Amino acid sequence: MELVILIGLQASGKSTFFHQYWAATHELVSKDLMRNNKNRARRQAQLVEAALQASRSVVVDNTNPTVEERASLIELGKLYGAQILGYYFQSKVSDCLERNQQRTGKARVPDVGIFATNQKLVPPSYAEGFHQLFYVKMADNSAFEIRAWTEVEVADG
Ligand SMILES: Nc1ncnc2c1ncn2[C@@H]1O[C@H](COP(=O)(O)OP(=O)(O)OP(=O)(O)O)[C@@H](O)[C@H]1O
Ligand SMILES: [Mg+2]
Repeated sequence: MELVILIGLQASGKSTFFHQYWAATHELVSKDLMRNNKNRARRQAQLVEAALQASRSVVVDNTNPTVEERASLIELGKLYGAQILGYYFQSKVSDCLERNQQRTGKARVPDVGIFATNQKLVPPSYAEGFHQLFYVKMADNSAFEIRAWTEVEVADG
């Protein structure tokens, strides 16, 4: 059973990555699916816990930019004995802004949201309790390049 935590700016490709790599085998938990919920952090925790309790693997598809937000998820994962995987999306703010401009309807977020997340974004580290960490980068042909983690490399782009 796995708990997969995606980490990255808005429009860095997280949801697309989920659909390509995980949709067939893992449950999706995303705050984007709970727009009308007042306490989305609590709802998210409930959904993650329900999945793990039932031994279902789950992907948390949110920006998850801070150590604190990830800590509550990691704690839940450990409680249920899940393998905890983190995927950090290496992306430039300018590229995310551009992709965001190309989105339509509800998918497009205010640019200020991307700047705010970038301010808060702290790359993950093994010290937080992840069992495995990876870098993800958008590649050509709508593909993603996944690379092994090195604690020293945290650059964007
Ligand atoms: N590998 C890729 N190559 C090129 N474009 C991509 C790739 N993956 C996603 N995109 C495009 O980038 C945009 C953002 O992707 P996506 O919606 O998956 O990002 P996100 O990280 O889930 O954003 P949010 O946090 O706002 O939900 C989309 O318009 C998508 O079509
Ligand atoms: Mg998304």
